Amino acid sequence: MASSNLHSLLFVIFLTTMLLLTPQVQADEEDDLFRGINSYRASINISSLTENKNAECLAEQIADQFKKQPCTNDTGSNTILGTEPQFANFPDLLKKCHLNVTNTKDGVIMPACVPNLDQSIVLANFTKSQYVTYLNATKYTGVGIGSEHDWIVVILSTNTTDGSFVPASTDNSADASVPKLRLIYLFFSLFLGYFLVNLD
Ligand SMILES: *[C@@H]1O[C@H](CO)[C@@H](O)[C@H](O)[C@H]1NC(C)=O
Ligand SMILES: *[C@@H]1O[C@H](CO)[C@@H](O)[C@H](O)[C@H]1NC(C)=O
Ligand SMILES: *[C@@H]1O[C@H](CO)[C@@H](O)[C@H](O)[C@H]1NC(C)=O
Ligand SMILES: *[C@@H]1O[C@H](CO)[C@@H](O)[C@H](O)[C@H]1NC(C)=O
Ligand SMILES: *[C@@H]1O[C@H](CO)[C@@H](O)[C@H](O)[C@H]1NC(C)=O
Ligand SMILES: *[C@@H]1O[C@H](CO)[C@@H](O)[C@H](O)[C@H]1NC(C)=O
Repeated sequence: MASSNLHSLLFVIFLTTMLLLTPQVQADEEDDLFRGINSYRASINISSLTENKNAECLAEQIADQFKKQPCTNDTGSNTILGTEPQFANFPDLLKKCHLNVTNTKDGVIMPACVPNLDQSIVLANFTKSQYVTYLNATKYTGVGIGSEHDWIVVILSTNTTDGSFVPASTDNSADASVPKLRLIYLFFSLFLGYFLVNLD
């Protein structure tokens, strides 16, 4: 117990330190990918995506959850479609970004793991993987990108209430306790087991 508390505390201190130290370093990879995705969309004649700050905030939070997990051939864009686990603390991550399930459920979260976030490989992980289905879709109008270590997370948002990632002003009283946001990946890391649960 005591040692696991200490472990958690050290981990939090580590995360905080990294958060304070890394944003500048990672920003280039995010910009490159942003431009790369929009060039891709231009090449197939569909509208470019605009930056969505709230989606970006959530992408940073999610990248942070992934960052200790090593890249394998089963993580990131290599995952098997249809497996949609959820972060147990997902509601907290949303809250940190002033979001909730109502305004995010039509969005899509796409994590990729690339050693050192090599620029051309990162772009290929989105434009030449299963994720391209989403990049091809005209319903997505906004994008937020976050990265930590070898992980880069792209979140696409829509211009509708349910996917805008903009906090709504009206109350949707439907029970939305189960987030429907699609999180597409399969994970094998024991470490992440701490954060993630499977939805039936
Ligand atoms: C994009 O539009 C241009 C001009 O309208 C056309 O020449 C080109 O073939 C289109 N490309 C695709 C991939 O549809
Ligand atoms: C993933 O890598 C492992 C070990 O390197 C290998 O045994 C497995 O066949 C690979 N899976 C795929 C889908 O490439
Ligand atoms: C995605 O990145 C990994 C490196 O983590 C690489 O092995 C893989 O080939 C890339 N996938 C695509 C489709 O480019
Ligand atoms: C994405 O769009 C490109 C260009 O129109 C097309 O070649 C490709 O097959 C599409 N991929 C998917 C998965 O829809
Ligand atoms: C939302 O996006 C769709 C598809 O890109 C576009 O046709 C529509 O005009 C947009 N609506 C608003 C309100 O921006
Ligand atoms: C989502 O936020 C809106 C206000 O931004 C609020 O009215 C709504 O009740 C919230 N929904 C949930 C499920 O928390």
